[in-house]
Amino acid sequence: MSNRKHHICPVEIAGFLDNTFRRWLQHPKKILEPYIKEGMTVLDVGCGPGFFSVDMAQMVGERGRVIASDLQEGMLQKLGDKIQNTELEERITLHKCENDKIGLSQQLDFILAFYVVHELPDQAGFFRETASILKPDGQIFIAEPVFHVSNADFEATVRKAREAGLIPVESPRLLFSKTVILKKADL
Ligand SMILES: C[S@@+](CC[C@H](N)C(=O)[O-])C[C@H]1O[C@@H](n2cnc3c(N)ncnc32)[C@H](O)[C@@H]1O
Repeated sequence: MSNRKHHICPVEIAGFLDNTFRRWLQHPKKILEPYIKEGMTVLDVGCGPGFFSVDMAQMVGERGRVIASDLQEGMLQKLGDKIQNTELEERITLHKCENDKIGLSQQLDFILAFYVVHELPDQAGFFRETASILKPDGQIFIAEPVFHVSNADFEATVRKAREAGLIPVESPRLLFSKTVILKKADL
């Protein structure tokens, strides 16, 4: 059971994550439009083949930056191939993270963790780390797949976020997903 929970999405099925049909159901710009503004520095953690990273880079514009981070080199390679020789190459930094550590120090305006938190071995550590690199007025968007994550598991995830000093402020409606937007609690 725990193996199922922490099962890591293989590179071989990257095509299921990045295709026109998904774009129709879960359009990155429509989902992220309330949260990402021009000039922001944003993180797409567990970016996979970059279904969200590319649109995020278009949204932050020339002055903004996207850090696209994943555990699997093969996922980063797919994103790298997609942006090669485009203007987005300058805007997107590919970052290979560890299983239990993202390993960034710069402060971020926005963090996206889409369909990745249930794959993490240490959710509490993940929220402590993301809280430490989030700007005081920054936001974290968590989305989890309804078919893999039960209500109880999602509630446990939100509890771990609270324990790390993050508070839920919103749950945007999103097809096939459980979501929460987190902000830093006022000290
Ligand atoms: C289901 S995919 C989602 C990809 C992307 N966020 C999307 O929605 O298209 C989960 C991704 O999280 C990555 N991942 C799993 N465990 C991770 C970890 N500990 N740190 C960073 N990324 C991880 C996997 O390699 C995979 O690319």
